[in-house]
Amino acid sequence: MLDVYMPMMKSAAILSAGKLGLFEALVGGPLDTQSLAEKLQASINGVRFLADFLITIGYLEQQGEQFANTASTQRWFTSAGQVDYTPGLLWSLEAWPMMGDLSEAVRRGSPEKTLWQAMEDKPQLGKTFSAYMDAFAGDLGPDLFVHVPVLPEHKRLLDLGGSHGMHSIRFCQHYPQLSALIVDLPSALTETDATIARHGLAERIQASPGELLVHDWHGQHDVVFYLSVAHNHTADENRLAIQQIFDALNPGGLLVIHEYLADTPNNAFMSAFRLTLLYETGTQTYRYCEYVDWLQMAGFTGITRIDLDPLEKGSLILATRTRS
Ligand SMILES: C[S@@+](CC[C@H](N)C(=O)[O-])C[C@H]1O[C@@H](n2cnc3c(N)ncnc32)[C@H](O)[C@@H]1O
Repeated sequence: MLDVYMPMMKSAAILSAGKLGLFEALVGGPLDTQSLAEKLQASINGVRFLADFLITIGYLEQQGEQFANTASTQRWFTSAGQVDYTPGLLWSLEAWPMMGDLSEAVRRGSPEKTLWQAMEDKPQLGKTFSAYMDAFAGDLGPDLFVHVPVLPEHKRLLDLGGSHGMHSIRFCQHYPQLSALIVDLPSALTETDATIARHGLAERIQASPGELLVHDWHGQHDVVFYLSVAHNHTADENRLAIQQIFDALNPGGLLVIHEYLADTPNNAFMSAFRLTLLYETGTQTYRYCEYVDWLQMAGFTGITRIDLDPLEKGSLILATRTRS
Protein backbone atom coordinates (compact mmCIF):
# COMPACT_ATOMS: atom_id res chain seq x y z
CA MET A 1 0.00 0.00 0.00
CA LEU A 2 2.91 2.35 0.64
CA ASP A 3 3.80 2.14 -3.07
CA VAL A 4 0.39 3.66 -3.79
CA TYR A 5 -0.18 5.94 -0.83
CA MET A 6 3.22 7.66 -0.64
CA PRO A 7 3.59 8.57 -4.36
CA MET A 8 -0.03 9.81 -4.31
CA MET A 9 0.69 12.07 -1.31
CA LYS A 10 4.02 13.17 -2.78
CA SER A 11 2.31 14.24 -6.02
CA ALA A 12 -0.61 15.84 -4.20
CA ALA A 13 1.70 17.86 -1.94
CA ILE A 14 3.95 19.14 -4.76
CA LEU A 15 0.95 19.99 -6.97
CA SER A 16 -0.79 21.78 -4.08
CA ALA A 17 2.37 23.77 -3.37
CA GLY A 18 2.45 24.78 -7.05
CA LYS A 19 -1.20 25.77 -7.06
CA LEU A 20 -0.89 27.75 -3.81
CA GLY A 21 2.29 29.48 -5.03
CA LEU A 22 4.23 28.18 -2.01
CA PHE A 23 7.59 27.73 -3.76
CA GLU A 24 7.34 31.18 -5.38
CA ALA A 25 6.44 32.69 -1.98
CA LEU A 26 9.83 31.49 -0.70
CA VAL A 27 11.80 32.70 -3.71
CA GLY A 28 13.17 35.74 -1.85
CA GLY A 29 14.21 33.80 1.27
CA PRO A 30 12.91 31.68 4.16
CA LEU A 31 9.67 32.46 6.00
CA ASP A 32 8.11 31.21 9.22
CA THR A 33 4.76 29.43 9.20
CA GLN A 34 2.69 32.50 10.02
CA SER A 35 4.28 34.73 7.34
CA LEU A 36 4.04 31.96 4.77
CA ALA A 37 0.38 31.32 5.62
CA GLU A 38 -0.40 35.03 5.33
CA LYS A 39 1.34 35.24 1.97
CA LEU A 40 -0.60 32.23 0.65
CA GLN A 41 -3.85 33.28 2.32
CA ALA A 42 -4.02 29.79 3.81
CA SER A 43 -4.49 28.30 7.29
CA ILE A 44 -1.50 28.06 9.63
CA ASN A 45 -2.09 24.36 10.30
CA GLY A 46 -2.51 23.56 6.61
CA VAL A 47 0.71 25.34 5.66
CA ARG A 48 2.66 23.76 8.52
CA PHE A 49 1.52 20.20 7.68
CA LEU A 50 2.16 20.72 3.97
CA ALA A 51 5.59 22.26 4.59
CA ASP A 52 6.56 19.50 7.05
CA PHE A 53 5.81 16.87 4.43
CA LEU A 54 7.60 18.82 1.68
CA ILE A 55 10.69 18.79 3.91
CA THR A 56 10.61 15.00 4.20
CA ILE A 57 10.54 14.60 0.40
CA GLY A 58 13.35 17.08 -0.22
CA TYR A 59 11.36 20.03 -1.60
CA LEU A 60 11.79 22.39 1.38
CA GLU A 61 14.30 22.65 4.19
CA GLN A 62 13.95 23.81 7.76
CA GLN A 63 16.08 26.79 8.81
CA GLY A 64 15.43 27.32 12.52
CA GLU A 65 11.76 28.32 12.75
CA GLN A 66 11.59 29.06 9.04
CA PHE A 67 10.99 27.14 5.79
CA ALA A 68 13.19 27.59 2.69
CA ASN A 69 13.18 26.19 -0.84
CA THR A 70 15.86 23.58 -1.45
CA ALA A 71 18.30 24.48 -4.26
CA SER A 72 16.51 22.05 -6.59
CA THR A 73 13.05 23.51 -5.85
CA GLN A 74 14.36 27.04 -6.40
CA ARG A 75 15.91 25.92 -9.70
CA TRP A 76 12.90 24.06 -11.19
CA PHE A 77 9.78 25.58 -9.62
CA THR A 78 10.37 29.33 -9.18
CA SER A 79 10.84 32.39 -11.35
CA ALA A 80 14.41 32.68 -9.99
CA GLY A 81 15.38 29.27 -11.36
CA GLN A 82 16.80 27.92 -14.57
CA VAL A 83 13.31 26.85 -15.74
CA ASP A 84 10.04 27.37 -13.88
CA TYR A 85 8.04 24.15 -14.30
CA THR A 86 5.10 25.45 -12.20
CA PRO A 87 2.90 25.34 -15.36
CA GLY A 88 3.72 21.61 -15.47
CA LEU A 89 2.33 21.28 -11.93
CA LEU A 90 -0.85 23.08 -12.98
CA TRP A 91 -1.16 20.81 -16.02
CA SER A 92 -0.65 17.72 -13.84
CA LEU A 93 -3.58 18.88 -11.69
CA GLU A 94 -5.71 18.71 -14.86
CA ALA A 95 -4.27 15.32 -15.86
CA TRP A 96 -4.78 13.87 -12.38
CA PRO A 97 -8.55 13.15 -12.66
CA MET A 98 -8.06 11.77 -16.20
CA MET A 99 -5.85 9.05 -14.66
CA GLY A 100 -8.94 7.61 -13.00
CA ASP A 101 -9.93 6.32 -16.45
CA LEU A 102 -6.60 4.60 -17.13
CA SER A 103 -7.94 1.07 -16.56
CA GLU A 104 -10.72 1.72 -19.10
CA ALA A 105 -8.17 3.12 -21.60
CA VAL A 106 -6.10 -0.05 -21.12
CA ARG A 107 -9.21 -2.17 -21.73
CA ARG A 108 -10.15 -0.22 -24.86
CA GLY A 109 -6.57 0.38 -26.06
CA SER A 110 -7.45 4.04 -26.66
CA PRO A 111 -8.90 7.05 -24.86
CA GLU A 112 -12.64 7.57 -24.71
CA LYS A 113 -11.98 11.12 -25.86
CA THR A 114 -8.60 12.45 -27.02
CA LEU A 115 -6.91 15.34 -25.28
CA TRP A 116 -7.58 17.47 -28.35
CA GLN A 117 -11.31 16.73 -28.17
CA ALA A 118 -11.30 17.47 -24.44
CA MET A 119 -9.63 20.82 -25.18
CA GLU A 120 -12.43 21.75 -27.58
CA ASP A 121 -14.95 21.17 -24.78
CA LYS A 122 -12.84 22.89 -22.12
CA PRO A 123 -10.67 25.69 -23.60
CA GLN A 124 -8.78 26.26 -20.33
CA LEU A 125 -7.16 22.83 -20.83
CA GLY A 126 -5.46 23.94 -24.07
CA LYS A 127 -4.11 27.08 -22.42
CA THR A 128 -2.74 25.15 -19.42
CA PHE A 129 -1.14 22.50 -21.66
CA SER A 130 0.52 25.14 -23.86
CA ALA A 131 1.91 26.88 -20.77
CA TYR A 132 3.47 23.57 -19.68
CA MET A 133 4.93 23.04 -23.17
CA ASP A 134 6.28 26.60 -22.99
CA ALA A 135 8.16 25.71 -19.77
CA PHE A 136 9.58 22.58 -21.38
CA ALA A 137 10.58 24.63 -24.43
CA GLY A 138 12.63 26.83 -22.09
CA ASP A 139 14.46 23.71 -20.95
CA LEU A 140 14.98 22.31 -24.46
CA GLY A 141 15.83 25.67 -26.09
CA PRO A 142 19.60 25.68 -25.36
CA ASP A 143 19.94 22.12 -26.78
CA LEU A 144 18.27 23.21 -30.02
CA PHE A 145 20.69 26.12 -30.43
CA VAL A 146 23.64 23.78 -29.93
CA HIS A 147 22.47 21.10 -32.37
CA VAL A 148 20.38 22.83 -35.08
CA PRO A 149 22.61 24.30 -37.80
CA VAL A 150 20.62 27.25 -39.21
CA LEU A 151 22.51 28.66 -42.23
CA PRO A 152 22.54 32.28 -43.48
CA GLU A 153 20.49 31.21 -46.55
CA HIS A 154 17.77 29.70 -44.32
CA LYS A 155 15.05 32.34 -44.29
CA ARG A 156 11.71 30.62 -43.63
CA LEU A 157 10.95 28.49 -40.58
CA LEU A 158 7.82 26.29 -40.38
CA ASP A 159 6.99 25.29 -36.80
CA LEU A 160 4.44 22.44 -36.97
CA GLY A 161 2.57 21.97 -33.69
CA GLY A 162 4.40 25.12 -32.53
CA SER A 163 1.83 25.90 -29.79
CA HIS A 164 3.15 28.62 -27.41
CA GLY A 165 5.48 29.90 -30.17
CA MET A 166 8.58 30.13 -27.99
CA HIS A 167 10.78 27.95 -30.22
CA SER A 168 10.02 30.16 -33.23
CA ILE A 169 10.45 33.31 -31.15
CA ARG A 170 13.88 32.27 -29.83
CA PHE A 171 15.12 31.23 -33.28
CA CYS A 172 13.86 34.46 -34.89
CA GLN A 173 15.53 36.49 -32.13
CA HIS A 174 18.79 34.58 -32.63
CA TYR A 175 18.76 34.54 -36.45
CA PRO A 176 17.65 37.94 -37.79
CA GLN A 177 17.21 36.56 -41.35
CA LEU A 178 14.44 34.16 -40.20
CA SER A 179 10.68 34.56 -40.34
CA ALA A 180 8.32 31.84 -39.07
CA LEU A 181 4.93 30.25 -39.59
CA ILE A 182 3.44 28.34 -36.65
CA VAL A 183 0.72 25.78 -37.43
CA ASP A 184 -1.24 24.21 -34.57
CA LEU A 185 -4.77 23.39 -33.43
CA PRO A 186 -6.80 26.45 -32.37
CA SER A 187 -6.82 25.16 -28.75
CA ALA A 188 -3.01 25.49 -28.58
CA LEU A 189 -2.78 28.98 -30.08
CA THR A 190 -5.00 31.01 -27.75
CA GLU A 191 -2.06 32.98 -26.29
CA THR A 192 0.43 32.72 -29.16
CA ASP A 193 -0.36 35.95 -31.04
CA ALA A 194 -0.10 37.94 -27.80
CA THR A 195 3.23 36.26 -26.93
CA ILE A 196 4.64 37.00 -30.40
CA ALA A 197 3.53 40.65 -30.13
CA ARG A 198 5.05 40.93 -26.64
CA HIS A 199 8.40 39.90 -28.11
CA GLY A 200 8.02 42.53 -30.89
CA LEU A 201 7.97 39.88 -33.64
CA ALA A 202 4.47 40.32 -35.10
CA GLU A 203 6.03 41.31 -38.46
CA ARG A 204 8.09 38.12 -38.69
CA ILE A 205 6.06 35.35 -37.03
CA GLN A 206 2.54 34.27 -37.94
CA ALA A 207 0.41 31.73 -36.08
CA SER A 208 -2.03 29.84 -38.28
CA PRO A 209 -4.68 27.59 -36.69
CA GLY A 210 -5.46 24.27 -38.36
CA GLU A 211 -4.94 20.51 -38.63
CA LEU A 212 -1.31 20.16 -39.68
CA LEU A 213 -1.84 17.44 -42.31
CA VAL A 214 -4.51 19.31 -44.25
CA HIS A 215 -3.44 22.89 -43.54
CA ASP A 216 -2.01 25.29 -46.12
CA TRP A 217 1.67 25.67 -45.11
CA HIS A 218 2.11 28.83 -47.22
CA GLY A 219 4.62 27.60 -49.79
CA GLN A 220 8.26 26.56 -49.38
CA HIS A 221 10.39 26.68 -46.21
CA ASP A 222 14.06 26.27 -45.24
CA VAL A 223 13.77 24.81 -41.73
CA VAL A 224 10.87 22.74 -40.39
CA PHE A 225 10.36 22.03 -36.67
CA TYR A 226 8.40 18.86 -35.83
CA LEU A 227 9.04 19.07 -32.12
CA SER A 228 7.24 16.60 -29.81
CA VAL A 229 4.50 16.22 -32.40
CA ALA A 230 5.13 12.75 -33.89
CA HIS A 231 4.06 10.94 -30.69
CA ASN A 232 0.65 12.60 -31.08
CA HIS A 233 0.14 10.97 -34.48
CA THR A 234 -0.19 7.50 -35.92
CA ALA A 235 2.62 5.93 -37.95
CA ASP A 236 0.69 6.55 -41.19
CA GLU A 237 0.10 10.20 -40.28
CA ASN A 238 3.81 10.67 -39.51
CA ARG A 239 4.84 9.03 -42.79
CA LEU A 240 2.51 11.40 -44.64
CA ALA A 241 3.61 14.46 -42.63
CA ILE A 242 7.30 13.72 -43.29
CA GLN A 243 6.61 13.38 -47.03
CA GLN A 244 4.70 16.68 -47.00
CA ILE A 245 7.54 18.32 -45.08
CA PHE A 246 10.08 17.10 -47.66
CA ASP A 247 7.93 18.50 -50.46
CA ALA A 248 7.59 21.84 -48.62
CA LEU A 249 11.36 22.22 -48.04
CA ASN A 250 13.64 24.16 -50.36
CA PRO A 251 16.77 22.24 -51.48
CA GLY A 252 19.31 22.56 -48.66
CA GLY A 253 16.45 22.72 -46.17
CA LEU A 254 16.51 21.06 -42.74
CA LEU A 255 13.94 19.05 -40.77
CA VAL A 256 14.30 18.98 -36.99
CA ILE A 257 12.37 16.32 -35.07
CA HIS A 258 12.30 16.20 -31.28
CA GLU A 259 10.99 12.95 -29.85
CA TYR A 260 11.03 10.24 -27.22
CA LEU A 261 12.22 7.14 -29.05
CA ALA A 262 10.72 3.74 -28.30
CA ASP A 263 14.10 2.01 -28.62
CA THR A 264 15.78 3.89 -25.79
CA PRO A 265 16.14 1.43 -22.89
CA ASN A 266 12.75 0.72 -21.32
CA ASN A 267 12.98 2.80 -18.17
CA ALA A 268 10.20 3.99 -15.86
CA PHE A 269 9.89 7.41 -17.51
CA MET A 270 9.61 6.08 -21.08
CA SER A 271 7.04 3.45 -20.04
CA ALA A 272 5.02 6.03 -18.07
CA PHE A 273 5.04 8.33 -21.09
CA ARG A 274 3.72 5.57 -23.37
CA LEU A 275 0.95 4.83 -20.88
CA THR A 276 0.08 8.54 -20.75
CA LEU A 277 -0.24 8.62 -24.54
CA LEU A 278 -2.57 5.61 -24.41
CA TYR A 279 -5.17 7.49 -22.40
CA GLU A 280 -4.46 11.03 -23.66
CA THR A 281 -4.19 10.65 -27.42
CA GLY A 282 -4.34 6.94 -28.26
CA THR A 283 -0.97 7.22 -30.02
CA GLN A 284 2.53 6.00 -29.12
CA THR A 285 6.26 6.55 -29.35
CA TYR A 286 8.18 5.13 -32.33
CA ARG A 287 11.59 3.53 -32.85
CA TYR A 288 14.45 5.39 -34.49
CA CYS A 289 14.48 2.89 -37.38
CA GLU A 290 10.84 3.82 -38.14
CA TYR A 291 11.80 7.50 -38.42
CA VAL A 292 14.73 6.56 -40.66
CA ASP A 293 12.34 4.58 -42.92
CA TRP A 294 9.87 7.46 -43.17
CA LEU A 295 12.67 9.98 -43.80
CA GLN A 296 14.46 7.89 -46.44
CA MET A 297 11.19 7.07 -48.18
CA ALA A 298 10.43 10.80 -48.40
CA GLY A 299 13.90 11.50 -49.91
CA PHE A 300 15.78 12.92 -46.90
CA THR A 301 19.53 12.40 -46.46
CA GLY A 302 22.07 13.25 -43.75
CA ILE A 303 19.85 11.66 -41.09
CA THR A 304 21.40 12.22 -37.66
CA ARG A 305 20.28 11.18 -34.19
CA ILE A 306 21.26 13.11 -31.07
CA ASP A 307 20.26 11.70 -27.67
CA LEU A 308 19.89 14.52 -25.17
CA ASP A 309 21.17 14.53 -21.62
CA PRO A 310 19.36 13.66 -19.41
CA LEU A 311 17.47 10.88 -21.22
CA GLU A 312 14.11 12.37 -20.10
CA LYS A 313 14.77 15.29 -22.47
CA GLY A 314 14.33 12.94 -25.44
CA SER A 315 16.24 12.88 -28.75
CA LEU A 316 16.67 15.08 -31.81
CA ILE A 317 16.62 13.72 -35.34
CA LEU A 318 17.99 15.99 -38.07
CA ALA A 319 17.50 15.36 -41.80
CA THR A 320 18.27 17.37 -44.93
CA ARG A 321 16.70 17.83 -48.32
CA THR A 322 19.87 17.75 -50.38
CA ARG A 323 20.50 20.33 -53.08
CA SER A 324 20.05 18.47 -56.39
C1 LIG B 1 3.57 17.96 -27.05
S1 LIG B 1 3.00 19.45 -27.78
C2 LIG B 1 4.52 20.17 -28.41
C3 LIG B 1 4.44 21.66 -28.57
C4 LIG B 1 5.71 22.32 -29.16
N1 LIG B 1 6.05 21.83 -30.46
C5 LIG B 1 6.88 22.12 -28.24
O1 LIG B 1 7.80 21.37 -28.57
O2 LIG B 1 6.90 22.72 -27.16
C6 LIG B 1 2.23 18.84 -29.28
C7 LIG B 1 1.57 19.93 -30.08
O3 LIG B 1 1.05 19.34 -31.29
C8 LIG B 1 -0.21 19.91 -31.53
N2 LIG B 1 -1.01 19.00 -32.38
C9 LIG B 1 -1.45 17.77 -32.08
N3 LIG B 1 -2.17 17.27 -33.08
C10 LIG B 1 -2.20 18.22 -34.06
C11 LIG B 1 -2.78 18.30 -35.35
N4 LIG B 1 -3.50 17.29 -35.85
N5 LIG B 1 -2.60 19.42 -36.06
C12 LIG B 1 -1.88 20.46 -35.57
N6 LIG B 1 -1.29 20.44 -34.36
C13 LIG B 1 -1.45 19.33 -33.61
C14 LIG B 1 -0.82 20.10 -30.15
O4 LIG B 1 -1.87 21.02 -30.15
C15 LIG B 1 0.39 20.56 -29.35
O5 LIG B 1 0.52 21.96 -29.37
